[in-house]
Formats: sequence, structure tokens, C-alpha cells
Amino acid sequence: MKKIGFIGLGIMGSRMAFNLLDNGYNLKIHNRTKAKAEPLLESGAEWADSPAEAARDVDILITMLSEPGAVSAVALEDNGFFKTMNKNALWIDSSTVNPYYSQEMARMATEESIRFLDAPVAGSKDPAEKGRLLFLVGGNQKDVREAQPLFDIMGKKTIHVGENGKGTSLKMVFNLLLGHAMYSFSEAMKLGESLGMEQKMLFDVLLEAPVVAPFVKLKREKMENSEYSPEFPLRWMQKDLMLASETASEQGVKLTVNDMVKQAYRNAIDNGRGDDDFSAIYDDLK
Ligand SMILES: NC(=O)c1ccc[n+]([C@@H]2O[C@H](COP(=O)([O-])OP(=O)(O)OC[C@H]3O[C@@H](n4cnc5c(N)ncnc54)[C@H](OP(=O)(O)O)[C@@H]3O)[C@@H](O)[C@H]2O)c1
Repeated sequence: MKKIGFIGLGIMGSRMAFNLLDNGYNLKIHNRTKAKAEPLLESGAEWADSPAEAARDVDILITMLSEPGAVSAVALEDNGFFKTMNKNALWIDSSTVNPYYSQEMARMATEESIRFLDAPVAGSKDPAEKGRLLFLVGGNQKDVREAQPLFDIMGKKTIHVGENGKGTSLKMVFNLLLGHAMYSFSEAMKLGESLGMEQKMLFDVLLEAPVVAPFVKLKREKMENSEYSPEFPLRWMQKDLMLASETASEQGVKLTVNDMVKQAYRNAIDNGRGDDDFSAIYDDLK
């Protein structure tokens, strides 16, 4: 069985790694904050002191990190894994980053004779735990075939979108919709409440109507109870909208609404809500 390295054991990565471990894979793991690795270590994963050690002698390395800067930190800096990964080993980056960044990583990996797939995921904490993620993959067919058994354990479906950068391209489109839908719903609720309608009635009616994105139903309890323990941290939602703006600018596409929505999430971070679930945008709107 292939030996797997896994770097980035946050909300998503820890659950994805657990599924691989539970399915019999040998896992070498690393996380900047070691404490988050403890449950996996107790279940038999092997600790690596650095990203470089996590990648040494593995067949496949998976990274699940917050943003491009974090990926660069573990790949390229001192003790980064580019220095130690076997020639011809496969690096799968499941972090949500921008397409241009994935293309750059693909180029740099190729220079080091490392194969590369961008493979971000749709689905949050619960699908990650249940192995029900949707993998959106960019890279060549042969590498996707090699990674497929791992995707099948961590996910319910894999979409091979195209060449490197296309997985992150599709993910960016997904999250633009996700961030905007959550924001629009929150704004509509605030208007409804200001007109003297009860929150419960608005939830009951709107969440059954086709005008609301289906995922919002999953956030009802959080909004009703003002309890925003993170499934998808708000700061990463803002990061995705910011990367979408940057990408749109590179592409010469105007994202007029996004400029406002990303600022609203930015304001929420400034108000101390960055580590809350992104549905906390509802509470942040006055
Ligand atoms: N949560 C979701 O619902 C969801 C769904 C789909 C995609 N995503 C994407 O998946 C990725 C991970 O999300 P998450 O929810 O698991 O976030 P998270 O819980 O905040 O985990 C982020 C991970 O990145 C690491 N990290 C951050 N900065 C670093 C740096 N400079 N050097 C080394 N490691 C660094 C963190 O290490 P520490 O533990 O040391 O902080 C942690 O392992 C993000 O790109 C996110 O957009 C999330």
C-alpha cells in the first residue's frame, strides 16, 4: 500500500487524514501546531517534525492548508517539502487557493520532478468527517487515476475539470456563490426583521422557498442560537472572495457585487468574527 504524507490538520485536514488512516493507509503527518495532530497520533499515524520530514519517502503527499502563503511556507521555505520529496512522487494540494497560484505550484513542482494535482474540495466539516467531499481536480489523467483511491475514501465524487489550475478555478466559482448566497440571505433576513416579521416565521418560509440556496438550511441553528462554532471559518470565506477578485482582475472580468460582499466579510473579521463560522455574517449585519 502506498505511503502517504499529510500536512495541515485543521478542521478539514484532520478529518480527511482520519479517513485515510481508518482505511489502512500508513500516514506520516505534520501540522504547524502539533496539538491538533494528537488524536491522529494516538490512532497510529506517524509524526513528522517538519514538512520536509512529512514528505520524505512518501509516494503521495496531501496538503490541506488555509491559503497560498501557508502552502508556500510548507513547500518552499526552510524545512519545506520540495527539498525532500522523492522524484516522481505525487503532491495533491487540496487547499483552496487561486488558479494562478496552482499553476505556479505545478510549474515549480515539475522543475523539481514532482507531479502535482490541484484538488480542492466542496463540502464542509461534516462531509469531511463522513468521507463525502466533492473533489474538484486539475492535472493529468494518469495522476488523477493514481489518486482516485484516496479521493474515493475522502470523498463521494471526483470531478476532473481539466489541466492544473482548473480544480481551483471551479472551486473559486463555487465559493463565490457560497459567500454571496450567505450574505444575501442575511441581508434579506435583516430587512424582514426590520419590517416586524418574526425570525422564526422568516426561517420557516424562506428556507422552504426556491429563492434560497439549499445549504442555508444547514446554518439555521447557528443563526437562531447565535452559536457560531466554525465549520467553515469566516476568515477563509473572506480569503476566497478576495482571491476571486484578484483572479477576476487578472482575467479582465468585473465582479461588482463581490467588491461589496468581500468588504462585508472583512468588516466582520475586524469585528472579531474571523474564527467564527462564516454564517456569523448574519449577526454582523446591523
Ligand atoms: N472548513 C470548510 O468548510 C472548508 C471547506 C472546503 C474547503 N476549505 C478550505 O480548506 C482549507 C483548510 O480549511 P480548514 O477549514 O481546515 O481551516 P483551518 O482549520 O483553519 O486549518 C488551516 C490549516 O492551515 C495551517 N496553516 C495556516 N497557516 C499556516 C502557515 N503559515 N504555515 C503552516 N501551516 C499553516 C493551519 O495550521 P495550525 O493548525 O498550526 O493553525 C491548519 O493546519 C482552506 O483553504 C479552506 O478554504 C474549507
